[in-house]
Amino acid sequence: MLPESPSPARAEARARLDRLWQRGTDFFGCRYAILGGAMSWLSERHLVSAISNAGGFGMIACGAMTPALLDTEITETAKRTKQPFGVNLITMHPDLEALIDVCLKHRVSHVALAGGLPPGGAITRLKQGGAKVIAFAPALAIARRLVRNGADALVIEGMEAGGHIGPVSTAVLAQEILPAITEVPVIVAGGIGRGDAIAMFLEAGASGVQMGSRFVCATECIAHPNFKKAFIRGAARDAVPSVQLDDRFPVIPVRALANKGTQRFMEKQRQVIDQFNRGELTQQAAQLEIEHFWAGALRRAAIDGDIENGSVMAGQSIGLVSREQPVAEIFEELVGQAVDVLARRIQNAAPADPAPVG
Ligand SMILES: Cc1cc2nc3c(=O)[nH]c(=O)nc-3n(C[C@H](O)[C@H](O)[C@H](O)COP(=O)(O)O)c2cc1C
Repeated sequence: MLPESPSPARAEARARLDRLWQRGTDFFGCRYAILGGAMSWLSERHLVSAISNAGGFGMIACGAMTPALLDTEITETAKRTKQPFGVNLITMHPDLEALIDVCLKHRVSHVALAGGLPPGGAITRLKQGGAKVIAFAPALAIARRLVRNGADALVIEGMEAGGHIGPVSTAVLAQEILPAITEVPVIVAGGIGRGDAIAMFLEAGASGVQMGSRFVCATECIAHPNFKKAFIRGAARDAVPSVQLDDRFPVIPVRALANKGTQRFMEKQRQVIDQFNRGELTQQAAQLEIEHFWAGALRRAAIDGDIENGSVMAGQSIGLVSREQPVAEIFEELVGQAVDVLARRIQNAAPADPAPVG
């Protein structure tokens, strides 16, 4: 049987979608301007190559990898896809310079610098080496500064996202930054789980979107089955930011599923603050104890499957994850939903008012 030909409205909607994200697809060199947001431990050769092969843009999460491990990961990813993919580096990594060397050696086309304002030298060196640099902008003033410093594209990530988050929602960041920054492509992230939202942000001026949580339950993702089950069972309200108990001991907020680990983190903070108040710990030692609490916790949950005590980093969009499915099917769904919503708008568009008579 011949495949059903698309209705005229759907064909027009498909062409409209291609126009809406053309700046993004040109910038990344892919078919769909949908980035697989880097997820430490999970965004490795299998998931990254599957995303790029399906028409999106995969990003390797370097996380705490050594330069040698990153070197291997890039080589192994390149063996699995002929399509472009990028690397996400954390700016606080003690070996940032060596990691940049590895990316340049492999001629990685796009490098994202995450986890704080990128040092000026890092942007320049990457660009001089031929890579395009993507930076994260948590506010308009920072977005402007990053563009001045040479960032080739920006990601604006709202607090609905999984992992480390800022305080502002995706919708507000989008309204603040999309109309103001036109010099470089801007990618919207955080809380996106369906194609409807992709179409909405593209129409608001985004050049593409970045999604993390939606790809955790991809068949190609190496997450432990327990981690995937937690995503399938979880609702938006279960993915909550970590809580800071005392202004003197800052906690970088991380959105993750509430579990025994998040409860114990509260107890740990209480205990450390009491010890500090009794003079048994210096401020620095107390801060370190709080910061070290989560060391290795994402790996424990995502790879080892201990979803009770590990950190099940997850965005609010997990409410939209309902089953394990291949990456290609996820893309088909997302693009289909974006086309559907655009086609409905085309069909519902009011006919032009007749010209006034007389
Ligand atoms: C399990 C997990 C790990 C993540 N690790 C990283 C990371 O290492 N570096 C980074 O820049 N973002 C990280 N993120 C954020 C994602 O790249 C992406 O921006 C985010 O998931 C988008 O929001 P969403 O979860 O609502 O799709 C992580 C997110 C998740 C869910």
